[in-house]
Amino acid sequence: MALPNGTQRPAVLILSGPNLNLLGTREPATYGHRTLADIEAACQGCAETLGLAIEFRQSNHEGILIDHVQQARGRVQGIVVNAAGLTHTSVALMDALAMFDGPIIEVHLSNIYRREPFRHHSYVSLVANGVICGLGSQGYTLALRALADMFEHG
Ligand code: DQA
Repeated sequence: MALPNGTQRPAVLILSGPNLNLLGTREPATYGHRTLADIEAACQGCAETLGLAIEFRQSNHEGILIDHVQQARGRVQGIVVNAAGLTHTSVALMDALAMFDGPIIEVHLSNIYRREPFRHHSYVSLVANGVICGLGSQGYTLALRALADMFEHG
């Protein structure tokens, strides 16, 4: 039976927030040397192995991220989200994620709990099923594995 996305494969929206477009050159000691394109390629390969379809989106704009989350409703089965700086500030993005029916995995490249106190609070965590942080770009593919497992085993 086909899923709402028109394929046989569960679909996942992978959403990245402000400044993550500059990964690779942005504070590499904190965020690593991989670019967002590298992460997208790794996610694509991982999704193929897991039998998932992915949509990979990045924006520097809160409203555009909210639009992506709203448009994901009824269309994709799970969300991986690194809301970057908006993690710590955006009630509106949290509200959009709260309206999404499927599982949500929050990802951060850095360990936000080893950093400045203002990074220790996450609005996204309040609506996420799970959180992966501090494992670098690997966090994105680990999140896909977690979602695939949830889709398979509930
Ligand atoms: C981040 C952590 C946030 O505190 C920061 O504002 C980012 C990236 C991470 O992936 O480690 O932009 O989400």
